[in-house]
Amino acid sequence: MAPEENEASISVLLKEKRSYPPPKAFAKSARVSSAAARGRLQARGRKSPEKFWEQAARELVWSKPWRRTLDWKAPRARWFVAGRLNASVNCLDRHLSGPRRNKAAIVWEGEPGETRTLTYLQLHREVCLFANALKGLGVVKGDRVAVYLPMIPEAAVAMLACARIGAVHSVVFGGFSAESLRDRINDQGAKVVVTADGGWRKGAVVRLKDAVDEAAKSCPSVTAVVVLKRTNTEVTIHEGRDHWWHRLTAKASADCPAEPLDSEHPLFILYTSGSTGKPKGILHTTGGYLVQTAWTTKNVFDLREEDVYWCTADVGWVTGHSYVVYGPLACGATVLMYEGAPMHPRPDRFWDIVERHRVSILYTAPTAIRAFMKAGDEHARAHDLSSLRLLGTVGEPINPEAWRWYREVIGGGRCPIVDTWWQTETGAILISPLPGATAAKPGSATLPLPGVDAEVVDRAGRPVPPGAGGYLVVRRPWPAMLRTVWGDEERYKSQYWSQIPGMYFTGDGARRDKDGYFWILGRIDDVLNVAGHRLSTMEIESALVGHPAVAEAAAVGRPDELLGQAVAVFVTLKGGRAPSPELKEELREHVARAIGPIARPSEIRFSDALPKTRSGKIMRRLLREVAAGRAIQGDVTTLEDLSVLARLQQDEES
Ligand code: WT7
Repeated sequence: MAPEENEASISVLLKEKRSYPPPKAFAKSARVSSAAARGRLQARGRKSPEKFWEQAARELVWSKPWRRTLDWKAPRARWFVAGRLNASVNCLDRHLSGPRRNKAAIVWEGEPGETRTLTYLQLHREVCLFANALKGLGVVKGDRVAVYLPMIPEAAVAMLACARIGAVHSVVFGGFSAESLRDRINDQGAKVVVTADGGWRKGAVVRLKDAVDEAAKSCPSVTAVVVLKRTNTEVTIHEGRDHWWHRLTAKASADCPAEPLDSEHPLFILYTSGSTGKPKGILHTTGGYLVQTAWTTKNVFDLREEDVYWCTADVGWVTGHSYVVYGPLACGATVLMYEGAPMHPRPDRFWDIVERHRVSILYTAPTAIRAFMKAGDEHARAHDLSSLRLLGTVGEPINPEAWRWYREVIGGGRCPIVDTWWQTETGAILISPLPGATAAKPGSATLPLPGVDAEVVDRAGRPVPPGAGGYLVVRRPWPAMLRTVWGDEERYKSQYWSQIPGMYFTGDGARRDKDGYFWILGRIDDVLNVAGHRLSTMEIESALVGHPAVAEAAAVGRPDELLGQAVAVFVTLKGGRAPSPELKEELREHVARAIGPIARPSEIRFSDALPKTRSGKIMRRLLREVAAGRAIQGDVTTLEDLSVLARLQQDEES
């Protein structure tokens, strides 16, 4: 965390007081149907987290049972030691011997409107074909495969095919630039890249293959690129390196026995932003990850056989891994998948999808909810949303106003809302209501789930009293926790296990109220949360200083009605370069090109100097206040040159 931060600066906000008990009709038939029942689960989890998770693990199929539930030598955890299993078997094969065989596994809708349904049997076949295609390209157990695809069923197919043969997938969000893709491919040394000719977004084709071609110019580890035909866009095919997906699978056998893998075998690497410029490759392994994603899917979403479950996240984010692919498929759910933009071609697209596919569980992000709310109630009201029975949110704190709108306008007042707190690193939901058991308070993720030891503590690791701000930590290992930062064990230790002695530090500030409920106060490191997506201030800054006109840059988050946080940057220019509106636009584009459109700054301010401490560190805390248009509070005695600050504030007024 930034050294300029201290506990006193974790401000404690005034919060919504109202509490909403689970709707009676829902609670009556819920898996966990009262506060007392949750209490019993919590007690079991507290008494022995290992026994608790062991019972959850028995719901999966293992080809060899584990010998010990947990090996914990901080900060190394091994769950279900020496057990063997395969994630694709748990998500597919095991459903084929019963009535789920012909059940829809994925119901997909493309942005242009076409639909496709894959039953478990069909999905299994596609996965086997593609797994054999990968083998044909020389992919073996332990190899890394980068997946850069739109939201189409083949994204899940590619992931599960890797899992089937023990290859490690690394999905890169299709909105990331060629440069970001290149850095991620090189960091992991991926052998194969799986992509498409394009994907649909807001009525236009996103040219993914072009980005792969650009990236692959400087990716020596890549020996093959697989290209799926999605949009029929003209693409360049590099003979010898590039292969059409349909040609490879046409030749492949549909028989692909799954590798029995060690419980700790790597399942995937997923890159996320941290407080330095270099994204971290978060490594998740097989057994523990699958146990906890399956348990949370079943219990947090109260999943039923007949549900149509829609998590709107892209597979490029962890939510898409845990709650579009692994958790729900391990539970044998029917998963709805939608390719495109939420309001395309009209603001009612989501509600139209809910109505036509009779979606019963909807899991989405507060930023999307705010955008829908702003677009007007009429778009939702024009559709029959009576199929919905449960709503969920993830990614950032939800403001009470958006929460109530979600509950009333989308949920018709009858659906419980689960506000789920977790991270790329945690792999699965850790803090959340159980919808039939936990009274919700708008803006609070409520309580740690059974078997999870989350707490709010001070720097020394002591729990803080109710109402006081502190650091959100997890005191004991949990099955789906990250195992390391790919290629950087040091960073794993120092980032997560060294800041608060003996505990996992989340990077979030939080407080608990008198009922023990958790209220997330936001990141306290140099990480931004823009529309539920994580960006590092350093990443944006290093992109900016890569521009020939920029001498120095500081990026901060500014409160934003729709995005939660927006990117605001302060830039000093090199001698001889003058500020201009054109340069502003150029710099915004420059950042979008370097990282991806999600990182495009909402605001750029030119300045002749940035406020720094005497040791030369940029005081982002002050810049945050300036960006938010607030009066500067707190200690400025370490500021090198007070006049810088005065000038920055004047700039804003002028
Ligand atoms: C950060 C993790 C987990 C999938 C999406 C984001 C914030 C996440 C909540 C919530 C308040 C939340 C935290 C966290 N966050 N969920 N329900 N309430 N804040 O994954 O990119 O790894 O970001 O998102 O700050 O640390 P991620």
